[in-house]
Amino acid sequence: MDEQAPDIRSLKALRTAEAACTRCPLYKNATQVVSGEGPARARILMVGEQPGDQEDKQGHPFVGPAGRVLQAALDDAGISRGEIFITNAVKHFKFEPRGKRRLHKRPNAHEIDQCHWWLDAERKLVKPSILVALGATAVRSVSGHPLPINKIRGRLIDLADGGRMLATIHPSYILRIEDEADKRAQYRQFVADLKVCVKTPA
Ligand code: URA
Repeated sequence: MDEQAPDIRSLKALRTAEAACTRCPLYKNATQVVSGEGPARARILMVGEQPGDQEDKQGHPFVGPAGRVLQAALDDAGISRGEIFITNAVKHFKFEPRGKRRLHKRPNAHEIDQCHWWLDAERKLVKPSILVALGATAVRSVSGHPLPINKIRGRLIDLADGGRMLATIHPSYILRIEDEADKRAQYRQFVADLKVCVKTPA
């Protein structure tokens, strides 16, 4: 994470630069880069892990199953998707082919750090007052440290670079919970975490 983000002046220029990214090997197997989306100046910049299968095919962040959970939680928290800039810590889909399926693989520290360059560029352009980190990969990228989500979720944390981070779980975690009562409890807590953004002045 020692390199400075490139001097890019618009989100359009950023998308063009990201599309040519070869900073780590993930570009080789992914269909396309999935750039962040949202208003050029948003109060909230939300960071996921990496595009999934659907996002890789469609070219937009959070349009698959995890995106539907996120959308429901944003609605319940009173946050409009149109008011947030939404992106991922890693911008290419990392997967392992298994027959006809493509199984999600977690990005490693090198991939997260190489892609941090683009997150930095997004932050410089969007100038958000809050960064919401969804899950461990996003927390690692946004804060620069592998912090334990359970200990820090739902409260604003001042970052060394002057930003403020709100950490919470990744919505795909809720999808993986089998016990219905646990699932509902985690969803409620996820919504409560997101509501901290609503209550926080700019
Ligand atoms: N999970 C993520 O972290 N990001 C997406 O865009 C989709 C699923």
